[in-house]
Amino acid sequence: MKISIVTTVILALGIAAGSLAQNIATTRNAAIDVELEPAKMARVDNSDIKRKRAYPMQPPTIPHKVDQYQVDLNANKCMSCHSRRRSQDSQAPMVSVTHYQDRDGNFLADISTRRYFCQQCHVTQDTVKPLLANEFVDIDEILRRDSE
Ligand code: HEC
Ligand code: HEC
Repeated sequence: MKISIVTTVILALGIAAGSLAQNIATTRNAAIDVELEPAKMARVDNSDIKRKRAYPMQPPTIPHKVDQYQVDLNANKCMSCHSRRRSQDSQAPMVSVTHYQDRDGNFLADISTRRYFCQQCHVTQDTVKPLLANEFVDIDEILRRDSE
């Protein structure tokens, strides 16, 4: 019964089209009262290779490990490489100018409090197989298809 309700909701949302074959109701693959062995922690991709952004305003994903980097009231380790001041020495890309703007668009000397906690928006990537397939295509691909 429950499963059929879930299925109906998914159909109603129209997500089902391409992904009916996938088990998207749960990626857990076990009954709710069965305790599974948790999956091993995956390795963070530390390749230092910048990834393509899916759209211009996407926060770029982080191409390096961050697990030892402290970001709290007293310190922001990310900014010790990514700030305007530090980027020449660190060779890290400077955070863009939007990170120095307050909500009224004024330019500040230091990182805006709105952009202080980097990992609200920027995330590392694990070297794993995606749990679910993703059929996202970017605008360039759509335009290319249209012109064919
Ligand atoms: C030791 C210096 C250093 C620290 C600390 C550091 N980064 Fe980086 N970061 C880099 C460098 C250098 C690159 C360029 C690619 C590479 O070499 O990994 C980079 C790349 C990035 C990028 C990709 C930018 C793009 O255009 O694709 C993001 C996002 C990023 N870092 C976020 C962070 C965040 C968030 C933190 C803190 C949790 C952090 N970095 C801490 C040096 C650093
Ligand atoms: C509220 C979301 C948000 C937070 C918080 C945030 N960023 Fe970003 N970041 C973005 C977005 C969106 C972009 C891409 C558009 C832009 O540059 O504004 C970006 C771009 C970047 C870039 C690429 C700059 C370039 O010109 O290629 C770096 C590096 C970066 N952020 C690092 C950081 C670091 C380090 C912090 C923490 C001090 C941080 N960001 C906090 C959303 C955020």
